[in-house]
Amino acid sequence: MGTPLFDAVMRYNSRRRAPFHVPGHKGAAQSLRGLADAQSLDLTELPDLGSLFDAQGPTAEAERLAASLFSVPASLMSAGGCTLCIQAMLRLAAPCGGKMVCGRVIHRSAVNAMALLDIEPVWVMPDASAGAYFTGRIEAGAVTRALEEHPGAKAVYVTTPDYFGVISDISAISAAAARFGVPVIVDNAHGAHLPFLRRGLGPLERGAAMSADSAHKTLPVLTGGAWLNIADERYAAGAKQAMALFGSTSPSYPVMLSLDLCREWLRVQGEDEFKRLEQSVAAVKQAAADAGLVQPAGECDPVRLAFAHAAGPRGESAGEYLRACGIEPEFAQGAWTILIPSPMNTSEHFSRLLGAVSRMRSAGGQKQALSAAPRPVCVMTPREALLSQAETVAAKDARGRICAEALCRCPPAVPLAMPGELMTAETMFAARQAGCPYVKVVKQPSAMYNKMK
Ligand SMILES: Cc1ncc(COP(=O)(O)O)c(C=O)c1O
Repeated sequence: MGTPLFDAVMRYNSRRRAPFHVPGHKGAAQSLRGLADAQSLDLTELPDLGSLFDAQGPTAEAERLAASLFSVPASLMSAGGCTLCIQAMLRLAAPCGGKMVCGRVIHRSAVNAMALLDIEPVWVMPDASAGAYFTGRIEAGAVTRALEEHPGAKAVYVTTPDYFGVISDISAISAAAARFGVPVIVDNAHGAHLPFLRRGLGPLERGAAMSADSAHKTLPVLTGGAWLNIADERYAAGAKQAMALFGSTSPSYPVMLSLDLCREWLRVQGEDEFKRLEQSVAAVKQAAADAGLVQPAGECDPVRLAFAHAAGPRGESAGEYLRACGIEPEFAQGAWTILIPSPMNTSEHFSRLLGAVSRMRSAGGQKQALSAAPRPVCVMTPREALLSQAETVAAKDARGRICAEALCRCPPAVPLAMPGELMTAETMFAARQAGCPYVKVVKQPSAMYNKMK
């Protein structure tokens, strides 16, 4: 299959033309110490290379090969991360805004894009199936009830797998959504690798219409590289335009080249590499279970390591301990430690991790399950709240104010309040428990809100 975009850049460089085009470093700036290789690959939309948003030349060929690898009608490269894919996906599903049924396990990139597109989320809370220490799954029955109550909803939006690796049942959610004639769109930021672990594990294989896959998180891709994969042909035609609406007109070539190279690597050896990774991770999971670390229950990403410190040192001290063992975790805060392995981790990395986790005994302490997320009270649309003037106040003074951004205790958790939601007694209590010192609130609620009061 090959690497058409990478090959085109190599061919272009071999022609040694005098580069009177951007970028300004001209491929050899002495001032960019240590970035010599990056410079030689950092080109622009030249006739020899094609253009990302116009879908031409070797760039278009690289995307065609990606579509074939993922067995979908269209696969689009993003050098603007999964964030750009999420923006485009939301634009395609709800071009003129409107209601959307959304799992409350959601990244701020989606909340921000919803505000820009004037999408009004109808929240579905996660269930408790992952256990007391994890955020849980979006469940098909709850999605059905939300769609019954909001017949005009344009789509169902689900984040799966979540940061902990917890996978929601997209097959059941897609079947429920199909009864209402709406697509399921998935933030698959943490699951770009899933189809290479096991056939049928990816969200598009389970009936989702589109997925935003943050390739740089779990695959050998430079930061910012992602794919928007489209299974429902109806969305393919407008997809480039939707990406161009939000994307930079100067997408990074090194990032796109890394997607091109990774795609070929996945085709040739992806399944074998992930089979090996799964075995290494399984040994660490077993050691963690023996050490009394709690892991999420039910279907999860087999290569994500997420531990809750149910009765032992908290994430911060677990992080310090791991660093002392020569390991840098992805996240170590509050009740959790999260590690993101990839096939690029060596066997030496894994033996270090296995040793450290085996010795990571629970050391007494308070059992503290995750408290239930507060019930949202929405008084403004996310758009109104996010685009309004805001001020930061001490959390203790925020009662009765309207949140101006997603208020999160820390990234893995369900936000305590979303933009446009009231800081109620319940939210205040949760914010205090979570140790949130400040809250960004709307400075002057609109006349419309004051009338509603
Ligand atoms: C669940 C989720 N969605 C979306 C994003 C945004 O991805 P990116 O950083 O590739 O833009 C992230 C990033 O951490 C994420 O965790």
